[in-house]
Amino acid sequence: MVSRIAVIGAGPSGLAALRAFASAGEPVPELVCFEKQGDWGGLWNYTWRTGLDEFGEPVHGSMYRFLWSNGPKECLEFADYGFEEHFGRPIPSYPPRAVLHDYIKGRVEKSGVRGNIRFRSPVRHVAYDTQSGSFDVTVKDLVGDRVYTERFDNVIVASGHFSTPNMPEFPGLELFPGRVLHAHDFRDANEFAGKDVLLVGSSYSAEDIGSQCFKYGAKSIIFSYRSRPLGFAWPEGFEERPLLTHVQGKTAYFKDGSSRSVDAIVMCTGYLHHFPFLDDSLRLKTNNRLWPLGLYKGVFWQDNPKLIYIGMQDQFFTFNMFDAQAWYARDVLLGRIALPDAAARAADIAAWRVREEAVQNAFDGIDFQADYVKDLLAATDYPAFDVDEVVRLFKEWEDHKRDGIMTYRDRSYPSTLTGTMAPVHHTKWLEALDDSLATFLAVDKAA
Ligand SMILES: Cc1cc2nc3c(=O)[nH]c(=O)nc-3n(C[C@H](O)[C@H](O)[C@H](O)COP(=O)(O)OP(=O)(O)OC[C@H]3O[C@@H](n4cnc5c(N)ncnc54)[C@H](O)[C@@H]3O)c2cc1C
Ligand SMILES: NC(=O)c1ccc[n+]([C@@H]2O[C@H](COP(=O)([O-])OP(=O)(O)OC[C@H]3O[C@@H](n4cnc5c(N)ncnc54)[C@H](OP(=O)(O)O)[C@@H]3O)[C@@H](O)[C@H]2O)c1
Repeated sequence: MVSRIAVIGAGPSGLAALRAFASAGEPVPELVCFEKQGDWGGLWNYTWRTGLDEFGEPVHGSMYRFLWSNGPKECLEFADYGFEEHFGRPIPSYPPRAVLHDYIKGRVEKSGVRGNIRFRSPVRHVAYDTQSGSFDVTVKDLVGDRVYTERFDNVIVASGHFSTPNMPEFPGLELFPGRVLHAHDFRDANEFAGKDVLLVGSSYSAEDIGSQCFKYGAKSIIFSYRSRPLGFAWPEGFEERPLLTHVQGKTAYFKDGSSRSVDAIVMCTGYLHHFPFLDDSLRLKTNNRLWPLGLYKGVFWQDNPKLIYIGMQDQFFTFNMFDAQAWYARDVLLGRIALPDAAARAADIAAWRVREEAVQNAFDGIDFQADYVKDLLAATDYPAFDVDEVVRLFKEWEDHKRDGIMTYRDRSYPSTLTGTMAPVHHTKWLEALDDSLATFLAVDKAA
């Protein structure tokens, strides 16, 4: 009989867990959510800080000023709490960070789950006690300046995986006379106005930070790719080059022998799955991919399914996928769904991996993750939403990015919940320099 569950992290994944139990419609176990930051929202809870916070803890935040959603909001809409319900009217498809943070908060404020969360409480250690069959969770109370341990029947790890930089080394960086930073520490594109900026990496961070810097006045943007270029029709001032080999003074040298003088280098080289608080036997070890191994249904730790992970996959789907995972986990913990034996779980994990390895491109990846979400949804009472329509919107989004990497955020899509077409935002993204919630909504109102 499950009586106490620890949730680590109050970002979208941890909040999905709290919300899932709040909507179970029957008495549920006690949930205690430990959150390192002072507020909820995870990455969406913006901080200007980098490095260590005021308590000496590593700063979790990787988001920056002027960050707008990089996918249509219609693809991530919570099925039990739509954008129209939250804002009282339809809003445009690509909201800035503050607007999405407000939306995330709105649902959990309504659920009344804040009382389950202990803020400023980083989990230091989780160990499984085989004798009692429970977990000892050791936590630092940052405000009270004390460390304590409590016992739980289950642990849900929802601590995110886009926070600990993957930082490569390139010869010559130690003498580079400009700024070298990881995307995790990027905060304000204004810093790079008038500068030649080199971005290493060719995924979402490179694409978006490069676009931000251009929008806020950088002189030129150079992307350097390891595997393949981003390949968009970039405006004048952008270029893509093969991988950086070394730096000499201000000059960056690339694999094709070319070179270029640059003022700043931003490593957009991704993140590490980093769980320093987990015993080795409990720790997920994976790179950023659609199907990490060791997790039944992408959620239950194979070696000990009392341990649950939410949100550990690479992400096309985000908020609604975390919900599907949380609802499924909830139903297993409430005894509504029975877990199969270890051999059956292992076979299922392996079968999904085979399918994942056949993924060739973004469209395949979207289809793969959609099938995974559907598989979870079929088993629970999470409100139905049209996953195939989300797939259609994601593919349209990919096409719109190809059509115009600087204009795709001016597009609109219909809500899969209400069918309402999002209004066109009053200001084009490239000209919208103020990303505050007030301006975004006021401008929309005025439109
Ligand atoms: C720069 C950037 C931009 C993004 N933009 C988008 C976007 O536009 N659209 C989209 O859908 N997704 C976006 N994402 C993806 C993002 O991963 C998800 O939207 C979402 O934030 C993931 O939620 P999460 O709860 O799994 O993780 P997180 O949001 O990372 O939250 C994890 C929480 O766990 C806490 N925590 C960590 N360690 C501990 C510990 N030891 N003890 C206690 N608490 C702990 C953290 O403080 C944090 O609050 C973006 C990601 C990045 C990095
Ligand atoms: N809202 C927004 O606008 C926004 C902005 C930024 C990020 N995000 C989100 O943040 C998440 C993380 O994105 P991300 O781009 O940071 O990580 P990512 O998608 O994991 O991509 C990592 C990139 O780093 C490259 N890389 C890794 N190691 C390298 C090395 N040693 N040398 C050179 N290149 C290396 C990879 O190249 P290979 O291809 O060769 O592996 C890949 O291009 C995504 O979910 C994304 O959606 C959203």
